[in-house]
Amino acid sequence: MHCVEVRLVRFRMVINMNIKDTGMTKAELEATAKKYMNEQFPRFDFIAEKAKGMYIYDEEGNAYLDFLGGIAVNAAGHCNERVSAYVKQQVDEMVHSSNYCYTIPQIMLAKLICETIGMEKIQFQNSGAEANEAAIKLARKYGVDNFGPERYKIVTALNSFHGRTLGTLAATGQPDSAIQKGYAPFVDGFKYATLNDIESFKEAATDDVIAIMVEPVQGEGGVFPADKKFLEDLRVLCDEKGMLLIFDEVQTGWGRTGDIMAYMTYGVKPDIVTMAKAMGGGMPIGAMCSSERIMNTFGPGAHGTTFGGNPVCCAAAYAQIEELLEKKLPENAKVVGEYLREKAAELPHVKEVRGIGLITGIEFDMPIANELKYTCAEKKYLLMTAVRPTVVRMVPPLIASKEDCDKAIAIMKETINEITSK
Ligand SMILES: Cc1ncc(COP(=O)(O)O)c(C=O)c1O
Repeated sequence: MHCVEVRLVRFRMVINMNIKDTGMTKAELEATAKKYMNEQFPRFDFIAEKAKGMYIYDEEGNAYLDFLGGIAVNAAGHCNERVSAYVKQQVDEMVHSSNYCYTIPQIMLAKLICETIGMEKIQFQNSGAEANEAAIKLARKYGVDNFGPERYKIVTALNSFHGRTLGTLAATGQPDSAIQKGYAPFVDGFKYATLNDIESFKEAATDDVIAIMVEPVQGEGGVFPADKKFLEDLRVLCDEKGMLLIFDEVQTGWGRTGDIMAYMTYGVKPDIVTMAKAMGGGMPIGAMCSSERIMNTFGPGAHGTTFGGNPVCCAAAYAQIEELLEKKLPENAKVVGEYLREKAAELPHVKEVRGIGLITGIEFDMPIANELKYTCAEKKYLLMTAVRPTVVRMVPPLIASKEDCDKAIAIMKETINEITSK
């Protein structure tokens, strides 16, 4: 009897997704969440029920201006009509098959991505961490197959972030941070060097190193863009030493830096690029791309995934990429991002404003980032933090306008003044 009741509540909730249809109050739902769910982040004090464009709507219909963008995901805006339409259509055709079958969305998306970003082959995955795992595995096997078992190491940057699986955690250059504490021993084979310091990468690139992996803009680390000259020098270093250059574009890819991929903004092409977040329009999908020669390192059976390249996620990604291209959203990111940083520089207590396109970090002269994030959320404006207590990060949908920026900056100014005058 008890089981039947539970099932009925769940059934109604799945159909409607609204608080009123669950038969529970907001407080009861929050208590239920706290009872059953592992909390990865302290949550904002509202239940997100709907979203459209630049806004998320709570259980009372209040609109929150979203400069968090699903953590750099909803690039074409929340509930983008084309993305929703392709998803709905694909859900009715087929939700999942397996990677033993070709599916139309997967084939068409593979072609669209490879031709758009100038790569030859793609391996689909489910997330950013998984895309990076695939890149790490590909680089290792490439090293071992071509140079012998001793050449498997990868150099990454200090202050980087590559994911939370054990492999990508080891790749993440944040020794002793909360991200890494308690998970030792780490996967062997990673060395760290300093972003924008080519000498430190040269020193780390010993004969047992097969690849260098960097984010063109360190996002989680506090929004630190790589210098153009540094990435150019990394390219030369990799070519000279037969190493692969891997760009983790999980956060920067698909328009955020003002071009389709950040490597286009920098004019430096990696051997392997990883992507996730903005490519799927909110559906969980990631991928790794490279040349055919390098991808051929993975023969049949060497790497695989059950869900990676799922047809519904591929349909969503296809729609999302069409939107980004047709609406010229990368160009918008460039113009609006510049404007946002100009305005952000005028905020009180600002030490530095960093970023490219619509990834912006504001470094304050006080550790106010966390309080600013939660107080701004109370004022219906969402932004996020990075690993540093002095830095807030803004990664809004790429449809953001200058008016959205004005609104965001006004709320931040008011909130900073309130916090710092206490
Ligand atoms: C640069 C970068 N790499 C990898 C990841 C991990 O992606 P996911 O959370 O989809 O596993 C992130 C997530 O923030 C990221 O910013």
